[in-house]
Amino acid sequence: MPEPSENAASFGFRQVPLAEKQALVDRVFESVATRYDLMNDLMSGGLHRVWKNILVSAVNPPRNECPFALLDVAGGTGDIAMRVLDAGGPATSATVVDINPEMLRVGRERARGYDIAFAAGNAEALPCPDRAFDAATVAFGIRNVPRIERALAEAFRCLKIGGHFLCLEFSAVDVPGLDRLYDAYSFSAIPAIGAAVAGDADAYQYLVESIRRFPRPAAFADMMRAAGFRRVTWRPVSGGIVALHSGWRL
Ligand SMILES: C[S@@+](CC[C@H](N)C(=O)[O-])C[C@H]1O[C@@H](n2cnc3c(N)ncnc32)[C@H](O)[C@@H]1O
Repeated sequence: MPEPSENAASFGFRQVPLAEKQALVDRVFESVATRYDLMNDLMSGGLHRVWKNILVSAVNPPRNECPFALLDVAGGTGDIAMRVLDAGGPATSATVVDINPEMLRVGRERARGYDIAFAAGNAEALPCPDRAFDAATVAFGIRNVPRIERALAEAFRCLKIGGHFLCLEFSAVDVPGLDRLYDAYSFSAIPAIGAAVAGDADAYQYLVESIRRFPRPAAFADMMRAAGFRRVTWRPVSGGIVALHSGWRL
């Protein structure tokens, strides 16, 4: 596999010009938006709900009257934002930023009755003020962003001092035996389910490949530190299928 260069980005296992990656990613999510949440349940056997709840526990929104502002970057159909609002008190609010209008449209429909502001925007240049949020989350989104370091810098900019950044992302399976099973499942079953349910095997082939191209947890932790985050940690979940990364703006 060719190494990424300054003007190239990985789109799954392919190297593409950096400037073209976003349009390719956008096509994937435009194609799957209406079936996105159903596909998450089918592909993960419901496990994505457990992973998201682990993220929400780490966000730990106050249950009392204290105001708490969440920024959910690449928030798609609003799943994380709704879960954080369900877990928090009455003064918890959420802003979801996503680049894809179709994902946002589905999110706005789903999140009727929730105090969520949905905004179209790029994680690399968030349409949000400096130091405005108590927590910033990205779930299964950052690996789709062409310039990850810019997205990290933007999340950092938008957090208050003392704010918490949490990133849930697919990772590297570290349990012998599970790795081969996981590979077999990912590369054969997931595109097939994608074809049958979302009508787009290629979109899910991309998603599987993009997981393999995402930096290892220690490398991603270094990127978080380079963006300014402190007390950076991560923990593998479900044998390393996903990892929860945490850092603070101090
Ligand atoms: C796998 S989905 C995750 C959605 C949601 N966070 C969840 O966990 O259900 C990835 C999302 O990232 C969004 N995305 C991709 N590139 C982006 C970018 N540069 N800026 C903001 N959002 C982006 C896509 O539109 C898509 O909604």
